[in-house]
Amino acid sequence: MIDQAGVLGSVRRGMIPAHIYNDEHVFALEKERVFGRAWTFVAHESEIPSAGDYVVRRVLDDSFIVVRDEKGEIHAHFNMCLHRGMQVCRAEMGNASHFRCPYHGWSYRNDGRIVGLPFHQDAYGGEAGFKRKSQRLLRAPNIGSHNGMIFISLADDAPPLRDYLGDFAFYLDYYTKQSPSGIEMRGPQRWRVKANWKIGAENFAGDMYHTPQTHTSVVEIGLFREPKAEKRRDGATYWAGNGGGTTYKLPPGDLDERLRYVGYPDEMITRMKREWSREQCDVIGRDGFMISAATVFPNLSFVHNWPRVEDSEDVVPFISVRQWQPISHDETEILSWFAVDAEAPEEFKRLSYKAYLMCFGSTGMFEQDDVENWVSLTNTAAGSMARRLMLNSRMGLLEDGTEVSPSLPPERFSGPGIARTGYSEHNQRELLLRWADHMERPMPKAAGVEVGVNG
Ligand code: FES
Ligand code: FE
Repeated sequence: MIDQAGVLGSVRRGMIPAHIYNDEHVFALEKERVFGRAWTFVAHESEIPSAGDYVVRRVLDDSFIVVRDEKGEIHAHFNMCLHRGMQVCRAEMGNASHFRCPYHGWSYRNDGRIVGLPFHQDAYGGEAGFKRKSQRLLRAPNIGSHNGMIFISLADDAPPLRDYLGDFAFYLDYYTKQSPSGIEMRGPQRWRVKANWKIGAENFAGDMYHTPQTHTSVVEIGLFREPKAEKRRDGATYWAGNGGGTTYKLPPGDLDERLRYVGYPDEMITRMKREWSREQCDVIGRDGFMISAATVFPNLSFVHNWPRVEDSEDVVPFISVRQWQPISHDETEILSWFAVDAEAPEEFKRLSYKAYLMCFGSTGMFEQDDVENWVSLTNTAAGSMARRLMLNSRMGLLEDGTEVSPSLPPERFSGPGIARTGYSEHNQRELLLRWADHMERPMPKAAGVEVGVNG
C-alpha cells in the first residue's frame, strides 16, 4: 500500500512508488477518491445530434445513458432500473423516445421520467399506490459541457466544469473548436490493454522523450515528418489548469505557413484564424509551437499529429480524442474517437480519418509501439520488488528541486500556464500531483441517498 502521508511529497520530488501501476488497493482508493469526484468525459454532443439519440458510457462501475431528450436537453441517467435494478438500456448507442427495462417492463421517457408500469392498477393499486409522475431515473450528480464535450462528476461538491478545466480551456480549443461549428466525433473504437490506466494518461500529457526510441520505425519509414532530434528539444510542454500537453517547434513563418506545414487546407486556416483569439493564433504563428498530444486529469487525452497519407507529398493532420477507462488495477479499456472540424471539406475528412487509423486507431503503428511498453511496465510493477522501488521521474529537476528550464516568458509563449522547452517530466509530475492530492484527500460525508421509488 502506498504511504498515504507521503505520496504527494514524493511525487513533488519526482519519486514515484513503482507499485501504483499495479496494485488493487491503490485502485480501490482511486475508484473512490479520483473517479468519485473528478470531472470525467463521457461523450461529445455530435455523437447525439438529434432528439432521442443516446450513447451508453461508464464512469468505472457506473453506467450512464447520455441522451438528448425531445426538447434537445442532454441528460446523463444512471442506467439502473428503479424497480429491481436491471440495466435499463443494453445497447451501446441508438435512438429512442423511451427505454423499456427488459426485466419486468417498466418504461422511461428519454428525459428519465417513468411513463409505464405493467399492471399498474393490479400490482400497485394505480396512482394511489404508485405515483408515476414523481419518479425518474437517477441523474448523474453533475453534468457539464464545454465545446460540445460532455463531462459528468459524481461529487456532491464538484466545482463548475469551466473552473475545473481552468486555463486548459485555452488549449482545448485547438482540438475541439477550429470553426464555429466545432468538431464532429466518429467512434469510439474500443479495445482493452493489460496496462494500468495512468501510464497512457501520463504519456500523452508530456512524454516527448520516448518518441525517438519507441517510435523509431515509424520515423524511419518516412510516415511522419518528425523534426530532427536536436530540434525536438526546442518543442515546449505546457501545463495549465487541470491539463497539459506537448508541442513541436516549427520553422519560422506566419500562422498560414505554419498551419500549411501540417497540411490544413486554406479554408480551414481562415476559419481557425477567425475562431481563435489573438493569443491562440500567436502560440502557433508568432511563437512557432504546433500543438500535439495532451491530457486532462484524470483520463482524457488528445492527439494532434500529421503523417503522410497515401502517395501524397504533403502531410495530413488528424485529431483524436481518447479515454483511458480503467477496468481494474492492471487493465484499461481505451476508447478512441476520430475528431474533425465539422466544416472541413469532405476530402480532408476522408484523408484525416485515414491518417488517424494508420497512427492511433486500434491497429495504428504508434499505438502498437506504445502498448508494448505499457503492458510490460504494468507486469513488472506487480511483484514484491516493485514495492521497494521509487521510480525516477525527475527529468527537468535539479538536485535542489528547481526546474532546469524556467517557464517561458509571455514574449516567447503566448498561452497561459507554465510552458518549458527541453526534455522534462514536469507535466507527468503535474498529472500525478493531482492524482496524489485526490488520493490523500478523504471524501466528504455522503449527501444522502436518493430514494428511487415513492420515497
Ligand atoms: Fe426493471 Fe423490474 S427491474 S422493471
Ligand atoms: Fe507514443
